[in-house]
Amino acid sequence: MALRLGDTAPDFKAKTTQGDIQFHDWKKGSWAVLFSHPKDFTPVCTTELGYTAKLKGEFDRRGVKVIGLSIDPVESHVTWEKDIEETQGQAVNFPMIGDADRKVSDLYDMIHPNASDTLTVRSVFVIDPNNKVRLMITYPASTGRNFDEILRVIDSLQLTDKHKVATPVNWKRGDDVIIVTSLSNDDAKKLFPGGWDEKKPYLRIVKQPG
Ligand code: BEZ
Repeated sequence: MALRLGDTAPDFKAKTTQGDIQFHDWKKGSWAVLFSHPKDFTPVCTTELGYTAKLKGEFDRRGVKVIGLSIDPVESHVTWEKDIEETQGQAVNFPMIGDADRKVSDLYDMIHPNASDTLTVRSVFVIDPNNKVRLMITYPASTGRNFDEILRVIDSLQLTDKHKVATPVNWKRGDDVIIVTSLSNDDAKKLFPGGWDEKKPYLRIVKQPG
């Protein structure tokens, strides 16, 4: 059955450009981003991998480990990574899974046969420290993903895990947030003593906590 939010991210053993891994052991206690690439030596993927590698400091600050996947073997990834460094000005600094037998792609439902029965779609999974799937996005092969958006969602997940808030449309770190509707005004007064702007009883805007 397809994965859903809140499910345990399936564990797997895989060959990567940084050695063999057991996924849950590799990520243990961290957040992780697992993202697929349709094929090696493809232009859109080349730009995505260079950009994601440039964001390493941002992922590290948030306690997130990044791992890529493509259905070609590791030896091919290693050769491709030279092109990525040359053309994007940044070496790939996270492991890339060689999924030639499509084991991981199948486990995570990354092949959508009506789009292509050979290439993966562009999947992104954000997985939390308890190995729960917290975000899934699926892009077509021809559209590069927005990795600033992935960071934005991770910021929202990490904030809303700690505080009784949700984040509004286009929210970015530092913007005002929304008090969750399950919190009564009496309880909200204890958690947000500075008060809030009540646009409607269900829409209470407050400064970002923390
Ligand atoms: C690309 O990464 O450029 C790409 C890969 C597969 C299909 C279309 C584009």
